[in-house]
Amino acid sequence: MSTWNIHSNIRDYTANIENTPDFMAELAAIDRSYFVVDENVWLHHGATLLNCLPKENLMILPISEDRKNLDGVQQLYDKLIQLPAKRNLTVVSVGGGILQDITGFAASTIYRGINWVFVPTTLLAQADSCIGGKTSLNYGGSKNLLGTFYPPSHIHIYAPFLLSLATNDFFSGLGEVIKLHLMGGPDSLQSLIELLPQLTKRNPSDLIVAIRQALDVKFAYMEGDEFDLGRRKLLNFGHDFGHALESTSLFAIPHGQAVIVGILAANIVAAKRSCLSADLEQELAKKVLLPNLVVRPSREMLDKTEILNAMKKDKKRTGENLVLIMMEDGFNLRLIDNLKPAEVEAALDCLQSEYLA
Ligand SMILES: NC(=O)c1ccc[n+]([C@@H]2O[C@H](COP(=O)([O-])OP(=O)(O)OC[C@H]3O[C@@H](n4cnc5c(N)ncnc54)[C@H](O)[C@@H]3O)[C@@H](O)[C@H]2O)c1
Ligand SMILES: [Zn+2]
Repeated sequence: MSTWNIHSNIRDYTANIENTPDFMAELAAIDRSYFVVDENVWLHHGATLLNCLPKENLMILPISEDRKNLDGVQQLYDKLIQLPAKRNLTVVSVGGGILQDITGFAASTIYRGINWVFVPTTLLAQADSCIGGKTSLNYGGSKNLLGTFYPPSHIHIYAPFLLSLATNDFFSGLGEVIKLHLMGGPDSLQSLIELLPQLTKRNPSDLIVAIRQALDVKFAYMEGDEFDLGRRKLLNFGHDFGHALESTSLFAIPHGQAVIVGILAANIVAAKRSCLSADLEQELAKKVLLPNLVVRPSREMLDKTEILNAMKKDKKRTGENLVLIMMEDGFNLRLIDNLKPAEVEAALDCLQSEYLA
């Protein structure tokens, strides 16, 4: 599939894989539009792919995780309220997951919601975050505590943007691509394993194959559970430990790389509970996860007390116990809500001695 028509209770929307950059000129021609472009994307593509955008209606935003908060959104509100267009304004965002979250939150709240179009430019945003309609902001030092459900009306995915991504950002996206292919089951994982050597060379036609499969898997998990009440929660595979590591590393470990570590840890817990065979746990670690972990966490970042404290802030918790999404034999995913601190500690020990020493 190259176009996804996604049903949402907020608005139905489409995501489209573009073969040429012609869509850019069409976006530039939208009436009453305002463009927000990630500063690094502008540096690399401002004079080429983005040359057709109207300079008078364009904001170039520096991007960092510590700008993904209410201050970052306020900066955008200040600009948007000065424009003559109000509820009939269209905001077009060109950037990665951070720009998506800041602009999506702003678009969903200003005037109780305006039209919003998203052009994702990172692998993570193209293969994962662009669909699903979540917008999230960090608050009080914790990740993604604030947010709304608000999908863009249109998403345009153009793989050549990815050629300029820094290595760590590319491998961050690859972490989510791996997660989604694992969730897709053995065939989807096998196709990824065969594609991986090509993928890391960033040939756009190979990237499109992986992006398409990743979005198909995400789409299948989201269907019928837009608001994260059941099956969709499983998309947080690797994120329980992952979010904790992002926060203990003060965001030095990029999101998708933290997810790889999170999957390693979750698989160790599953193997210790005999839900996942030790052979499969080790095979996944050695064939897929570790070779694509390029930003390795230090011993301090995996400090047991710090990780446990961070895991206690997980939004999925409903009581005192810790929660974890676990993969079992047969590639089935399950949310457990009786994870014990001792299991987390044992998994961290094993991770350190087996895989990160
Ligand atoms: N809303 C959601 O559903 C959702 C889902 C997953 C992740 N996220 C969030 O997304 C964020 C991570 O997003 P990301 O991985 O896309 O990173 P990002 O937005 O931080 O971008 C990474 C870096 O790449 C730069 N960049 C972007 N596009 C580029 C390009 N084409 N060429 C060169 N540089 C480019 C950015 O300026 C930034 O420095 C996290 O905050 C995470 O919480 C949101
Ligand atoms: Zn993620």
